[in-house]
Amino acid sequence: MCGIVGYIGEKDCFPILIKGLRRLEYRGYDSAGVAVFDGESTINILKKKGKVEDLLAFVGKDIPPGSTGIGHTRWATHGPPSDVNAHPHTARFGRLAMIHNGIIENYESLRTSLETNGHAFVSDTDTEVLIHLIDEVQNRTNASLSDAVQMALKEVEGAYAIALVDASEPDMLIAARKSSPLVIGVGEENEFYVASDATPIIEHTQNVIYLDDEEVAVMHRKKGLIIKNLQNTVITPEVHALEMQIEAIEKGGFQHFMLKEIFEQPNSILDSIRGRVSVSRSEINMSGIDAHWDKWNAAQRIIIIACGTSWHAGMIAEYLFEDFARIPVEVEYASEFRYRNPIIRSNDVVIAISQSGETADTLAAIKLAKDQGAHLFGVCNVVGSSIARETDSGAYTHAGPEIGVASTKAFTAQVTVLTLIALLVGKKKGLLSTQRFSRLLVELKAIPDKVQKLLEQDARIKEIAGHFVKSENALYLGRGVNFPVALEGALKLKEISYIHAEGYPSAEMKHGPIALIDEEMPVFFIATADDVYEKIVSNIQEVKARGGRLVALVSAGNQELKQLAEFVIEVPKTDQALAPLLTVVPLQLLSYHIAVMRDCNVDQPRNLAKSVTVE
Ligand code: G6P
Repeated sequence: MCGIVGYIGEKDCFPILIKGLRRLEYRGYDSAGVAVFDGESTINILKKKGKVEDLLAFVGKDIPPGSTGIGHTRWATHGPPSDVNAHPHTARFGRLAMIHNGIIENYESLRTSLETNGHAFVSDTDTEVLIHLIDEVQNRTNASLSDAVQMALKEVEGAYAIALVDASEPDMLIAARKSSPLVIGVGEENEFYVASDATPIIEHTQNVIYLDDEEVAVMHRKKGLIIKNLQNTVITPEVHALEMQIEAIEKGGFQHFMLKEIFEQPNSILDSIRGRVSVSRSEINMSGIDAHWDKWNAAQRIIIIACGTSWHAGMIAEYLFEDFARIPVEVEYASEFRYRNPIIRSNDVVIAISQSGETADTLAAIKLAKDQGAHLFGVCNVVGSSIARETDSGAYTHAGPEIGVASTKAFTAQVTVLTLIALLVGKKKGLLSTQRFSRLLVELKAIPDKVQKLLEQDARIKEIAGHFVKSENALYLGRGVNFPVALEGALKLKEISYIHAEGYPSAEMKHGPIALIDEEMPVFFIATADDVYEKIVSNIQEVKARGGRLVALVSAGNQELKQLAEFVIEVPKTDQALAPLLTVVPLQLLSYHIAVMRDCNVDQPRNLAKSVTVE
């Protein structure tokens, strides 16, 4: 939610900020704005409702000069998307400007007391309250700006990643964070970049510092970087080398990031397996499991916490852990778990799944479980993210940067990693026969090629999609491990095409959803060969009898359903436990094509954001 970017150095900062904002636009696209300090007396603030392109049209040829600046792309929380609510926000009559990602929870009481002291506000935002608070603290104490920032942040409840510039400090850029991500790029001598993630930084420098919670970084054009925490202790930063490649964050000839990411799946799944599986030795190696085997071995229960698509990956993992490792599993929405007074025991292993590693609810749920003594294991895609750092151990999914807001390759990477963990734990506990374990490893290794085969059917899937462009509702049905895939198929469709869609276990259809079926209703069945295939065929018959429009995902060679369904998509055969890695792919493509044909912005669907750093 919200992307922030900043620069201080010798270069013109406007192009750097705009390019950075384009890269961060996946985090929010309700408005965009920049503040550029001309180095003498004026901070030029330019901001506009809409996307970065709208901001550029508004700026036109009047590019603000300066080599210190900040930029913001917004996902609205306090106040609707508008020019006035767009960041940067200012205090001290425009001489202090700030951008912010997060939520200041006590902003109302802060605002009231600031108003009593004569501060006037023009926007509805919590951000404007915070910059006025910093101004107020500095006036009251005569402290330096960085000390005032530290003191003000102590009064704040909630989450923030901020960057600010001050017209009376021409050589300084300040940034701070708590529970919202912030990365500092270390460039040439005394040149610094600040951003919500590494994507705006990568083409300038490979050297980054991940700021920790409650740390304030002062970047000075002459004096360099000083980081202190809110207790005023100086922190020695650890500089990391970025491993990301620039090509990974560009579209590479695809019309949309989402399509590129769907097509990357043969590679991203392979990357999730790479270095972890040896088929010849019939082995899985995962250091995060091996190093804490005592915890896994003693686990009486696994609790999986996640949100959105990651929660669906967790649902699949439930089937796999129970089957392979015989450990009871609970899959929880992080947002419900954290407010439910849940029962957590020291012999629970809690797995947090998150693409971004920054989802606020998942992060809060982790802290709760950690406080109560559970072992925390993270499954994250973003290296160095908050969730990766807050957990006791974990496994990265290695899907590479995912830019499209609707998650695709991150999901299949999560399912791959969770499958590996379930297999490894099952084997180490002696519950999986060597034969079954080896067979599953061979099958898993073959998955990338099978995904490739599915992608080769794209043209036909697009043609099928064309028949459902005008649909207003859709039903997705599956059973077993394919039930969460049905949920994911429905989520993909509603996220990007705005068609109302629901996923159900197919046997539950008769307990309600069947009432919705008429000649208009598309019903997507996942009916690949498995233990419950015959039961699903009966459900398909029931839909057919009521005139529903049937699309069936079947195992290659299936003839039976060709007679029943309007459209059939053949999925390469695999072990039924691994089916989700294949069955989800045509559903991703169907949603993508339907959304494009409906003229929807698939990479930036309305109201959504990729990284949800608010509750
Ligand atoms: C948002 C995104 C989804 C994602 C969910 C959880 O809603 O739009 O694609 O699944 O957040 O995000 P996480 O980063 O924790 O996986």
